[in-house]
Amino acid sequence: MAQTSTIPALHSLYKDYFDIGAAVNLTTIETQKAVLTTHYNSITAENDMKFERVHPSEEVYTFDAADQIADFAAANGMKLRGHTLVWHNQTPDWVFEGADREMLLARMKSHIETVVRRYKGIVYGWDVVNEVIEDKSGVWLRESKWLDLVCEDFIAKAFEYAHEADPNALLFYNDYNECNPEKRDKIIRLIQSLKDKNVPIHGIGLQGHWNLNGPSLEEIREAIERYAATGLKLQVTELDISVFDHEDKRTDLTQPTEEMLEKQAKRYEQVFQLFREYKDVITAVTFWGAADDYTWLNNFPVRGRKNWPFVFDQKHEPKASFWKIANWQK
Ligand code: GLA
Repeated sequence: MAQTSTIPALHSLYKDYFDIGAAVNLTTIETQKAVLTTHYNSITAENDMKFERVHPSEEVYTFDAADQIADFAAANGMKLRGHTLVWHNQTPDWVFEGADREMLLARMKSHIETVVRRYKGIVYGWDVVNEVIEDKSGVWLRESKWLDLVCEDFIAKAFEYAHEADPNALLFYNDYNECNPEKRDKIIRLIQSLKDKNVPIHGIGLQGHWNLNGPSLEEIREAIERYAATGLKLQVTELDISVFDHEDKRTDLTQPTEEMLEKQAKRYEQVFQLFREYKDVITAVTFWGAADDYTWLNNFPVRGRKNWPFVFDQKHEPKASFWKIANWQK
């Protein structure tokens, strides 16, 4: 796929701002190798470091895929983010089976120790806890087996265990709908409560699964301001800009409309302008993929429907969105 020298490398353009990352899997490190190694200086395993992938049963760890991704990062001089240690999803049933508080904490500890130690000095930062805040109004924490069986201090414990396993790793809390004002404030309440207890937490991950219309720029700015006020560093961890609104279920398109591409370019221009403004607090912007040929949004929330959420197209060529975030000085 064409990556000609006239196309500037995205991560070089942003070298004085923040890292530019992409989520990858074993297929995309092959099929998107050129675009990944040219434009991105950091990667995250899309799925291959999740609990169910690396620890499918109590005595069995399967690090094959995760190791290949770590090797790809090392071979290409890229940074590696770890994703994710404690989550309500993609966690095997055995973890909770027959467990009381003490047993579940012991299992969590041994999982975190094993995974974090394996990638010590290789993974520079971990999404330690993913998505524990409830979306519904009026409820703070999401219901989960972790919460049921341990109580809310499972969150603090996860950070403590991760810090013990690798004192140099940067530890993040990561969530979506992070710019929604009510959810944002619940996330901040959690961060504040952890900080008050001196829990080792260093950053907040704003997933950034956005679309052409939302969240508004004002909401994004306000979220960045308030998260930054906690004193923690921020990363955008899973950025994609869907061409469909969440409620839009249309399935007729085989390619994005001109209007969608124009709106998307404008949106990327605006959000990256905002990110640059906050370069002192934002340390990385990671896309949840690298180019439009592969995105989890091809199946979500409408099964089988294609989406085009990135700044490189299906052939890995720069889209209008790319030029908007590449040419801001001009
Ligand atoms: C969440 C998780 C990611 C991924 C996406 C969907 O954002 O953090 O690991 O599963 O959902 O791809």
